Amino acid sequence: VFFNSTVSSLELLRQLQHSMARMEYRGYDSCGAAIQCQLRNGDPGIELFKAVGSPSETFWPVVEAGVDQINPALVQPIQLGMGHTRWATHGEAGVRNCHPHVSSDKKEFVVVHNGQITNFAQIRNYLKAQRNWDFYSETDTEVIPKLALYFYEQTPNATFPDVVEQVCQVLDGAYALIFMSTLFPNEVVATKCGSPLIIGVKSDSRLQLSDCRTSFKSDNAEAEYRMDEPNHMIYKPSDTKSKPKVQYYFSSDRPALGGLTSYCLDLHDFDIAHARGNGELEISYKYPGSIADRHLKHQEFDQVSEEENIFSCKTEQEIHQQRATIESAVRGRVDFDNHAVKLGGIQAYLHEIRRTNRIYMIGMGTSTHAALATQKILTSLTNKSVSVVQATQFIDMEEPIAKTDLCIFISQSGETADTKAALDYCNQAGALTLGITNVVGSSICQNTTCGIHVNAGVEVGVASTKAYTSQYICLVLLGIAIAQDYFSMKDQIREIIDGLRELPMKAEEVLNHKQELKELVELIQERQAIVKEGMTFNTDKSNSLYILGRGYQYAVAREAALKIKEIAYMHAEGLCASELKHGPLAMVQENFPVILFALNDQFKTHAFNAMNQLVSRGCVPFLVITEGDELELENNFKNKAEVPFHFVLPKSTPCLQGILAVIPMQLLSLYLAQARGCNVDQPRNLAKSVTV
Ligand code: G6P
Repeated sequence: VFFNSTVSSLELLRQLQHSMARMEYRGYDSCGAAIQCQLRNGDPGIELFKAVGSPSETFWPVVEAGVDQINPALVQPIQLGMGHTRWATHGEAGVRNCHPHVSSDKKEFVVVHNGQITNFAQIRNYLKAQRNWDFYSETDTEVIPKLALYFYEQTPNATFPDVVEQVCQVLDGAYALIFMSTLFPNEVVATKCGSPLIIGVKSDSRLQLSDCRTSFKSDNAEAEYRMDEPNHMIYKPSDTKSKPKVQYYFSSDRPALGGLTSYCLDLHDFDIAHARGNGELEISYKYPGSIADRHLKHQEFDQVSEEENIFSCKTEQEIHQQRATIESAVRGRVDFDNHAVKLGGIQAYLHEIRRTNRIYMIGMGTSTHAALATQKILTSLTNKSVSVVQATQFIDMEEPIAKTDLCIFISQSGETADTKAALDYCNQAGALTLGITNVVGSSICQNTTCGIHVNAGVEVGVASTKAYTSQYICLVLLGIAIAQDYFSMKDQIREIIDGLRELPMKAEEVLNHKQELKELVELIQERQAIVKEGMTFNTDKSNSLYILGRGYQYAVAREAALKIKEIAYMHAEGLCASELKHGPLAMVQENFPVILFALNDQFKTHAFNAMNQLVSRGCVPFLVITEGDELELENNFKNKAEVPFHFVLPKSTPCLQGILAVIPMQLLSLYLAQARGCNVDQPRNLAKSVTV
């Protein structure tokens, strides 16, 4: 919402496209925008632009094709627009299912929605029965603007926020909603329940709330807040005569605000925010908290790195950033000389954390693998029982959680719906909750008692790479922070911290061995072709790959398999090597591609055993070993020519070795994906952040 705007309709659409593109990590199968504008016949109205595909690729051609419907150069005193990038949940990714959704062709109400309305079918049936209205889409969202029209017709004197409030009373499920309306031109209403919604503010004059409780300053703006009446607050420009430019940005997440403003506030569930024609922003709230919880805060939003991308795609760039991101995960937190760790976000709670009985680590996807990778070291450092549970499984099993439990929520985005649901469950049980996230201010940051930011910078590729290694490090640091006051832990901690000091350099070393991984891609593909050729029974295992690890490397095997599935669309299974003889070995025959981790830790002998089991069945695995173990490997084979392909890793302390081990697997999945012609950054059917 731009007040006293100098922005034309076309510029507004460009602005919307930029912000939608920054939100593509939420989904990108279709997109759409609505702007308030002057229609070709001169009337004011709302025009929609919808496209199948991502905002960055398909939105602008649709604007160009449709722009003659409006006056693109028009600069209005108040410019309103909204956009949405969709990841289909209800209904295919076609134009009719794109947001914004409308009440009717007259666009009495126009809505964008993030979330899921669980009772939409009942509402749709009710509205059909009451009004005989046609529904043009298969989405749950379409009921929302129609419901707004239904209530408006019943109470024509209602204000815009009144209508929205009535709608919310009927909706079940999770939502962040933004409304525009031809009935209420120059107004925008937004509300939320369960899904995040933030408001960014930019103003070139003081924004005043009469009672002047607090104020904030930005480079060119200053604002004050007042309480008009309980549960009600208004931001307004103090100097209306000089027509100050005021902009309000409503968004599901902070990246959309990058570069636009550094001031924002988070709406709470059932808050109703109303930007209206006089430049004011009014927030009415019921629950919970107070005005102080809704103050504008200064925040530098992480922006997608502007560093020159010399790589073929964002995922490749992010994999290569890991030397730097490993450094930033430890920067300012580790005292390498005194072998000590200080984590600002949990410091005040350390005593409480130490007194907890059990630790649960909860997440989804790659984040669960970071938990799995550090489960052993956390158990060892804390001397507590540490469980790793997938967020959905955690709820499905109705885990009995006590006030004496520490529940750690790991999430790159901090917005994964399943992880958030598990967090709510633990908060209700009164557990001590700790968030490990990469997005400052995300829902999981806000709703946990304390937390650690992983500081990996914005991650764009759907497949998480640099965030994984940073989560891993933060979990190890957490273990050290808990243990470091115990004398018996001193040696172990010293070893890990020495390992951390050398880790960035060793990560860089691994990244320099790309050629070998490209060779491995060829070898895997050759084998798959041979297996396919000689297939004697009707099962398609020609597109399969096993990845085996034990102990610390089990998580690496799982994560590697996930990466390969995600971006190379190849069936890969990450298995504990000990499981082989309990079933998976049946799939194995000569040339079946297997990658086996046989690293220099307490599990090496087991890994070599697994290798021998495979070799005796004619299946020679590709190996990942640690430097110094080359000879031992050779000794397992009669002559040198039989020694299988092996990738050699620099040696680190065992609990950190998994960081060095996962990097070649990330590169391998990237090269496999490229060899198979896949879209690496945006793999089919997947979104970076699953918020429904
Ligand atoms: C989605 C993504 C995965 C990610 C998972 C958890 O499935 O595609 O890459 O690991 O969500 O996301 P989070 O943001 O909670 O770490």
